Formats: sequence, structure tokens, C-alpha cells
Amino acid sequence: MYSHIISEKQGIVQLITIDREHKLNALNIELIQEIGLEIDRLNKEKLVRGIIITGKGNKAFAAGADIAEFAKFNSKEGEKMSTNGGIVFNKIEQSCIPVIAAVNGFALGGGCELSMACHIRIASENAKFGQPEVNLGLPPGYGGTQRLSQIIGKGRALNMLISAKTIGATTALNYGLVTQVVPIDELLNTCIQYVQNLAHKSPIAIDAVIKCVNTMYAENNGFNFEINQFSECFERDDFKEGTQAFMEKRKPNY
Ligand code: COA
Repeated sequence: MYSHIISEKQGIVQLITIDREHKLNALNIELIQEIGLEIDRLNKEKLVRGIIITGKGNKAFAAGADIAEFAKFNSKEGEKMSTNGGIVFNKIEQSCIPVIAAVNGFALGGGCELSMACHIRIASENAKFGQPEVNLGLPPGYGGTQRLSQIIGKGRALNMLISAKTIGATTALNYGLVTQVVPIDELLNTCIQYVQNLAHKSPIAIDAVIKCVNTMYAENNGFNFEINQFSECFERDDFKEGTQAFMEKRKPNY
């Protein structure tokens, strides 16, 4: 049914696995749309009590948006990518069924943003989080500037966004970016157990909690501003140099 994700129902748990291991589960546009369709379906059917999103393999949750795909985009295409991706990430954030990110390695750029759109993040010990877009001549485009600031605070967020430095699982735990760190071979079971525990909690009350918390941030126009800033950068030389450098496996020359 899907080309880039695998979605399996295991009792009251739905496990969505990003299935592009050879590209470190980089998020192409079609893949993000597939996640959106699946979140819609699961929210309509209401047959599960929790959705887990993870990446295939032991190396990456998702190493970002697919750089090879957007490297040739112009500003209009960049705007469309960011807008449509943002719609899907909002669907995750607004899902009435809790969504848990099982972060099993690199969660960079769009991967970090995807994890932050989820309600809960549980990481393996080898997880690494970062927003390295400035290496590519871009700001984040899937809500990273907003959600990172919401979750870990402005100072830490600016530090990560400006420096492009990644943080490991222990720092992510200290920052409150994740709620738990476990050995990689225990990650999925820990997340499944998290959902099993929700079997005895009211789904109606959980839905209300999610809506209430999201309402606290509802008036935030920063998301639209980020889309504008992101798309404008597609016309700049830094973006061409940054994406070219990534594909040529060299450091950019700014
Ligand atoms: N988009 C497209 N392809 C990506 C990708 C991305 N975001 N991240 C990794 N890949 C691809 C690589 O190009 C490589 O493909 P190839 O084998 O055809 O050359 C493959 O995945 C493996 O990645 P590689 O870079 O060889 O692995 P590594 O262990 O040396 O480095 C990372 C791992 C995560 C540090 C490195 O892949 C990286 O920096 N990725 C980009 C991170 C990023 O900038 N994300 C934000 C994007 S908006």
C-alpha cells in the first residue's frame, strides 16, 4: 500500500517504520505524505491506543529531509515542500491517538522535527539529535525553529540551530527533548509497553489533554514565518553551495 513506510498493527499498537535504510531514512516528500495518510486513517478508525514511529535499522530514525530531492528546488517548490510537510507534522501533533517517536539513531533536520511533532520521544543510547540545516544554507522548514524552542527553551534551541551541533541521548534527556533513554535492543519494547499502559487510560481524556496542551501554542505565527524564511533561502547562493557540498561529500565554502 505504501512505498516508503511499513505500517503494522500489533494489538492496540500501530508501528510505523520509515523504510529507507540505505539513505538513513531520509524523508522524501512522498514518504511524508504517506505518514500523513496513515495518521489520518488511524485517527478515523480509532482501533489502536498508540502509534509508534521509528526508522528501519539501528543507525537512523531519519537523517533529515531528502537533500538530493530538494537540491534543485526553487523558492516556490521549497515553499510547497515546507507547507505540505508542515500540514503532516501538524496532523501528528494533533492526532487524538498519542504518537511516540522511537528514536533509534540519527534524528537530524526533518528527522528531529518529525520526532518533535510526536507527543512522546523515547531514545536509544546511540540516538543523536540535531538541526544541521545551516550547513546547507537553510533554516529548518518543518517547524524545527518553533518546536525545538518550545520543548527545550530558546537558549538551548538557538545554540543547536546556530551551531548545527548534534547532541547525544544523555544531553537530550537532560534537555527534556526525550523522556527516556534505553539500550537499542529494548527501544521498541519500551515504546510498546508505553502504549500498553494506555489501555487503562481514557482515550477521551487523552484526546482532551492533547488538544488542551496544543491550544497553549495555537496562536504561534512562527511556523508561517519559518516557511517564508525557508523558501526564500532557495534562491540564495549559500543554498546551492550547501546542498552541492553535501552531495559531493565535502565541507561547504561560505
Ligand atoms: N538526504 C539525502 N540523503 C541522505 C541524507 C539526507 N538527509 N542523509 C544521509 N543520506 C544518504 C547519504 O547521501 C548516503 O547515500 P549514498 O550511500 O548514496 O552516498 C547514505 O545516506 C548514507 O549516509 P552517509 O553520509 O554516507 O553516512 P555517514 O555515516 O557517513 O554520515 C550523517 C551520517 C547523518 C552524519 C550524514 O549522512 C549526514 O550529515 N546527513 C545529512 C544530515 C542533514 O543535513 N540533515 C538535514 C537535512 S535538511
